[in-house]
Amino acid sequence: MLKVENLSKQFTLHQQGGVQIPVIPRLSFSVTSGEAVAITGPSGRGKSSLLKLLFGSYIATSGSIKILHEAEWLELTNISPRHMMDVRNKTIGYVTQFLRVIPRVSTLTIVSEPLIYRGVEVSAALLRAQNLLDQLNIPQKLWHLSPMTFSGGEQQRVNIARGFAAHHPLLLLDEPTASLDDENRNRVMELIREAQKNGSAILAVFHNEDERHLVCERDIAL
Ligand SMILES: Nc1ncnc2c1ncn2[C@@H]1O[C@H](COP(=O)(O)OP(=O)(O)OP(=O)(O)O)[C@@H](O)[C@H]1O
Ligand SMILES: [Mg+2]
Repeated sequence: MLKVENLSKQFTLHQQGGVQIPVIPRLSFSVTSGEAVAITGPSGRGKSSLLKLLFGSYIATSGSIKILHEAEWLELTNISPRHMMDVRNKTIGYVTQFLRVIPRVSTLTIVSEPLIYRGVEVSAALLRAQNLLDQLNIPQKLWHLSPMTFSGGEQQRVNIARGFAAHHPLLLLDEPTASLDDENRNRVMELIREAQKNGSAILAVFHNEDERHLVCERDIAL
């Protein structure tokens, strides 16, 4: 599903004297469908940056990222922004730690959107969104509100519901359970296992070692 070769990333802080921060040093690995792999390493080592490189939010300094998109291998490091959007809509799902929301857009809309982009009928997309919000214990009275004012854990669960709404052949998860209580954490673990059963390859950062061992078969240590 994913082949990474000699990937490196270095940040240059142009407004702070051109200071250079190397984060990823020539990293190579691959992930197959249905496999769950953990990215490990101490805080600040570059775990989130790696996920952002794979999602096309950061540009690699050197190296190659190949992904299987609609049965074709694509090189992501030199793809056009438009083509990258298509890869994001159909192939790569990404659950960030924090939800970034547009004011006044309802929770149901945020969660059902990825399905509507895929051409799923609005009523079916809303039904799937409702099921996910229900599974993740978001009270019904909140569904029609913007998640802007929700608690940290509620926002994280809305983010997870959105990330899992549509099937993605590759799922990038950045500390998806970090601010959740035990029950909701278990619900998220179930969603991850379900996605894996449906063939998704999973690349995840877990704060908690037990959770990491529950889901992931091997580690990529940074
Ligand atoms: N956009 C950026 N510009 C400059 N430096 C950045 C940028 N993004 C990340 N960094 C730097 O890269 C390093 C790695 O950050 P990153 O967020 O990837 O770490 P992490 O392993 O996810 O850490 P944590 O476990 O704390 O989440 C940090 O030193 C950070 O300051
Ligand atoms: Mg991080």
